[in-house]
Amino acid sequence: MPMVIAIDGPAASGKGTLARRLADHYGLPHLDTGLLYRAVALTLIDAGASLDDEQAAAQAAASLIADRLADPRLRERAMGEAASRISGIPAVRAALLAWQQRFAGTPQGAVLDGRDIGTVICPEARVKLFITASAGERARRRHRELTGRGESVTLAAILADIEARDARDASRSTAPLKAAADAVVLDTTELDADEAFAAARAVVDRAR
Ligand code: C5P
Repeated sequence: MPMVIAIDGPAASGKGTLARRLADHYGLPHLDTGLLYRAVALTLIDAGASLDDEQAAAQAAASLIADRLADPRLRERAMGEAASRISGIPAVRAALLAWQQRFAGTPQGAVLDGRDIGTVICPEARVKLFITASAGERARRRHRELTGRGESVTLAAILADIEARDARDASRSTAPLKAAADAVVLDTTELDADEAFAAARAVVDRAR
């Protein structure tokens, strides 16, 4: 069985950094699935289409190409918001499901991080981690990251974004954010990146 590691959690929980480090450590390809939703949103924005245009969004998801995932604009704060808005559209999720399952289905295995990897995309994953941290701590981390990249934004604005996104991601009817019943929950509020990595590695090593 290929080694698939599914990592889920709310915005700015540290799951992305952790997923990248695990992928490096175990020599597996990594997919940040948030980028897929961000890329669909960016396609709509670039086309001048509304984020509420379900048909355009479904079309953008169905024709998404990997090259789009390298666009630096995907990392901007506004794109996280836009991605969250289109991510509730079932046809978008259906189109991206196939994309993600192709990525995870190779013989070598993969690390995927997102919101519904352990529950919907890879329910058979060998390892499932659910990474969380308090909203305040996640806001501080995201604020550091964005201001480090030169975006000018207040901590209060980030906290408001994070709380709104948590509520939207957890309450949507299609694939809401929640830990799979068989996921190991890792709360990183009190952990630095190295400590979180060590804890995650211990979980993976137990499953190998
Ligand atoms: O993880 P990231 O912040 O890049 O995700 C942006 C948005 O995309 C999330 O708020 C969520 O609404 C959506 N998303 C999702 N399912 C995933 C990954 C991201 O719904 N697997």
